[in-house]
Amino acid sequence: MIGTGYVGLVTGTCLAEVGNDVLCFDVNAAKIAMLNAGGVPIHEPGLEAMIRRNVAAGRLAFTADVDRSVAHGALQFIAVGTPPGEDGSADMSYVIEAARAIGRRMTEWKIVVDKSTVPVGTAERVRAAIGEELARRGVDVPFAVASNPEFLKEGAAVEDFMKPDRVVIGADDERAIAALRAVYAPFQRNHERLIVMDLRSAELTKYAANAMLATRISFMNELANLADALGADIEQVRQGIGSDPRIGWHFLYPGVGYGGSCFPKDVKALQHSATEHGRPLRLLAAVEAVNEAQKRVLVEKIVARLGDDLAGRRFALWGLAFKPNTDDMREAPSLAIIDALLGRGASVVAYDPVAMDEAKRAIGTRERLAYARAPMDAVDNADALVVVTEWKEFRSPDFDALKRRLKSPLVFDGRNLYDPALVHAAGLEHYAIGRKAFA
Ligand SMILES: NC(=O)c1ccc[n+]([C@@H]2O[C@H](COP(=O)([O-])OP(=O)(O)OC[C@H]3O[C@@H](n4cnc5c(N)ncnc54)[C@H](O)[C@@H]3O)[C@@H](O)[C@H]2O)c1
Repeated sequence: MIGTGYVGLVTGTCLAEVGNDVLCFDVNAAKIAMLNAGGVPIHEPGLEAMIRRNVAAGRLAFTADVDRSVAHGALQFIAVGTPPGEDGSADMSYVIEAARAIGRRMTEWKIVVDKSTVPVGTAERVRAAIGEELARRGVDVPFAVASNPEFLKEGAAVEDFMKPDRVVIGADDERAIAALRAVYAPFQRNHERLIVMDLRSAELTKYAANAMLATRISFMNELANLADALGADIEQVRQGIGSDPRIGWHFLYPGVGYGGSCFPKDVKALQHSATEHGRPLRLLAAVEAVNEAQKRVLVEKIVARLGDDLAGRRFALWGLAFKPNTDDMREAPSLAIIDALLGRGASVVAYDPVAMDEAKRAIGTRERLAYARAPMDAVDNADALVVVTEWKEFRSPDFDALKRRLKSPLVFDGRNLYDPALVHAAGLEHYAIGRKAFA
């Protein structure tokens, strides 16, 4: 398993869990040292115990030694990062470097499986890079390249990997397809979930999935803002449409905009590819523009209530991670919200159950930004509570205590977490997304 981030570490561990002999390799030696010392560099429910179990059983190991990694197995999964480049395109340098590292060393048949999210045509680039390295060595070792995009969700990654909705395999090599069928057989004993397709379609499928989900979020955000203007309640509208099986319940939650390590970069990368091919996606351009604007909506509500100059104001901020159950801060909406509040002279006391260390790394030290040890500690003396991430522990706070401990009784609910009437009954003003304000 090449790359031990959210995808590589989870995939490697879950493959070991069903009996495979897995070696996880990463160029980040500090990460490997931490794993070898029993630590886990990311927060993912269930992962730590599963790592420990499989390391103890001798099925899972970690290395920073690339020779050992290439020699380890016939199946080489590439799960390295594909971060956005300056122009929005996916930065393919890590994937190509991982492919070259294999080409420089392999001595027997390999299946190189691309698990990273990569633009259409990457499998061909990976094949070419390995071919070049083999040619440079003057050897001819057969290999296959397959695409196996990953659909796991951070925060439920182990569960998603162990019980996938589907496994997409893009390949044109029968031996590779048979090997990947065998790898995934233990995860689909109930019924067949493997969808085999051509390489390019597999690569596009991953972007299509994320683009569709991002579209649903932006659609709901835009509709929520309209509901605000029309005096309708988006939560009631959500229930009215989610109950239609053609629409379904998932990804219909309005909020402070999508973030994370995937949607923003994948939407941009797909748009970049589309534009390069003379087919810019008009819908996706709107999805992105709506999302950018949505990151400002909560602060606009705060400004509408408290004025543009927030100097001397203090805000309690609940939730830093881009979504619950993860410590991932990449493109988290909290970053834009904190920035906007500090920029207007306010001070912020933030709390998150797991992402505070990661947030400190992402934000660095900022004047007037502090972190609290408990949600209620953040609230003491604050001019308002701002809810940014819908962690379970924020769902049912003691509203009377909130009223007592806040300096002024204001709740800005960026995730529509609370029943407005309930909050109001406790004597608090409640401002949410697409719901009538209870002032
Ligand atoms: N995070 C998710 O929820 C998720 C879900 C589905 C797909 N993906 C995709 O999977 C890929 C990996 O994402 P992630 O979130 O796990 O990334 P990550 O940043 O958490 O981890 C990537 C790891 O790859 C390592 N790496 C970089 N170059 C390497 C090399 N040449 N050899 C070995 N290791 C190398 C890095 O040191 C890092 O530890 C991306 O393409 C992403 O879009 C991510």
